[in-house]
Amino acid sequence: CRILVMASGFGSNFQALIDATRPPAGELQNCRIVSLVVNRKGAHAIARADAAAIPWTYRNLIGGGFVRKGEADERAVADGRRRYDAALAAQILAAPAGERPELVVLAGWMHVFSTAFLKPIEEAGVRIINIHPALPREFDGANAIERAFDEFKAGRLTRTGIMAHYVIDEVDRGEPIIVQEVPWEGEELDAFKEKMHVHEHKLIVEATAKVVREILESRTSQKPSS
Ligand code: GRF
Repeated sequence: CRILVMASGFGSNFQALIDATRPPAGELQNCRIVSLVVNRKGAHAIARADAAAIPWTYRNLIGGGFVRKGEADERAVADGRRRYDAALAAQILAAPAGERPELVVLAGWMHVFSTAFLKPIEEAGVRIINIHPALPREFDGANAIERAFDEFKAGRLTRTGIMAHYVIDEVDRGEPIIVQEVPWEGEELDAFKEKMHVHEHKLIVEATAKVVREILESRTSQKPSS
């Protein structure tokens, strides 16, 4: 199964996916990460791609011909985003057949896709999933771990969680694939974040493997019977 990963930062979830494609025990041994897309030049994920000989492309959201600096009003930004999304989808779908991804995994991708990206990708039969460090319908969007932690400290909550989900055009609201609760056991923020990341790295691999199994099954069922 061919996977394309999108990441904006440190790339530890991307690394978990790379490691899982490696023998002997990798859960994603039947997969190949065909490429990485980053939207931040400083993303450490780039170094991880280089180390694993995975080709990567940089698509800057601001500048790069998609959103011009100074186009600050809402409509211009929305138009710019749609242009960016449509161009990125076109780039992905233009890959030659043997390199074209069957699955896109967002692994710390700090950009909310509009239907200008999602529609052509879905119409081409490419699935798209995301990992988010919160339970469904709690702490959507950025800084989910920090916001949950504030609730722990205020005595209003004792657990948060992680989910992998299909991507729709509402932030962190697509159909969940795997959901896991993570209890707060009195740790300070850094230790709690670390604990969340360890769980995330397992969950992103499990969820990807689950979707890959479905893709492989649908490939088999599409083969004409003789
Ligand atoms: C992860 O917590 C991910 O769930 C969130 O952003 C973080 C990215 O971490 N959306 P990394 O870049 O994979 O290390």
